[in-house]
Amino acid sequence: MVRITLPNGLSVANVCLGAMNFGTTTTKKDAYAVLDAYLDMGGNFIDTSNNYAHWNGTGDESETVLGEWFRERGCRDRVVLATKVGFDRHGKGAGLKKEQIEYWIDESLRKMNTDYVDLYYAHTDDPDTPLDETMEAFHRLVEKGKVRTLGASNYDAWRLTEANHIAEANGYTPYTVHQQLFTYLHPHFEIAPPYTFNESVTRERLRYLTAKNMPLVAYSSLAKGGYEDPSRMPATYIQGARLDCIRNMAKEKGVTTSALVVAWMVNLYRCAGFPRVIPLFGSSRVDHFTDNLKGADLILTDEELDILNKA
Ligand SMILES: NC(=O)c1ccc[n+]([C@@H]2O[C@H](COP(=O)([O-])OP(=O)(O)OC[C@H]3O[C@@H](n4cnc5c(N)ncnc54)[C@H](OP(=O)(O)O)[C@@H]3O)[C@@H](O)[C@H]2O)c1
Repeated sequence: MVRITLPNGLSVANVCLGAMNFGTTTTKKDAYAVLDAYLDMGGNFIDTSNNYAHWNGTGDESETVLGEWFRERGCRDRVVLATKVGFDRHGKGAGLKKEQIEYWIDESLRKMNTDYVDLYYAHTDDPDTPLDETMEAFHRLVEKGKVRTLGASNYDAWRLTEANHIAEANGYTPYTVHQQLFTYLHPHFEIAPPYTFNESVTRERLRYLTAKNMPLVAYSSLAKGGYEDPSRMPATYIQGARLDCIRNMAKEKGVTTSALVVAWMVNLYRCAGFPRVIPLFGSSRVDHFTDNLKGADLILTDEELDILNKA
């Protein structure tokens, strides 16, 4: 698996493993199998959150399973670990106030048996807390060595700009990674997302990230398994000709459609107007996961990228 360098110098695999369901709908045994397979195949970039997956449990499960896996395998130093703060857990805990950030980082470190997080994301914007307060609180964590770099998820581009202007003016650590909903299929933008900022990436946002040299970590990049199992395809995506195009090319290349979605994303930075995109996906099954991972090493020609982009 190819390694790429994040703006603060961290070296990560070009594909990120999502641990959202580990410990809830994915058993600990199955989670360990996927985690071990990812590491064996050269992966090192793992994504979780302080609230995964509270809709199926308490919200502590994913970080707890990762903490146990780090301890049992002794592999914490082989992983670039990303977690998040800011979304609710059973209707409580949402927000990016100083005391919330300070409380939840310590909870995440405790659960994951570690004393630092490599990449700490604001999980979603908090319009009720001044950005100065949020950016200063995050910066203090970097100063204390609890966090190495910062990212923002479910943030509008104009708010990212405002946050980073405040960081620059005050000498605070800026957001240098953006995590947002993005897959190959275009969304029905007229369908409102479940949370206000939980919006699919637009062409304008892609140009913004390109101009700012900010990588996009693309969450739900495999449309929840919908490329392989149509019953899992979210109704929010437009299917039709674009889906046919990637399906046909995947068949010609002898890979799954999901693997080609992964390949499209990791090759996209070669096209004008696209930032570095790091597909983020998870699975409860090693066979699904390793099939999808095949896309990470697939080099697409300029002509193939052009066909996929124009479909
Ligand atoms: N920042 C945010 O707000 C946010 C929001 C959502 C997610 N995330 C992150 O993104 C990660 C991935 O997102 P996601 O889980 O929403 O979506 P995803 O990666 O698009 O899809 C995961 C689903 O795809 C299925 N799948 C994969 N290969 C398959 C195959 N060959 N056949 C059938 N199904 C297949 C998996 O089912 P099986 O288990 O059966 O393989 C799994 O349920 C999460 O773990 C989390 O870290 C972040």
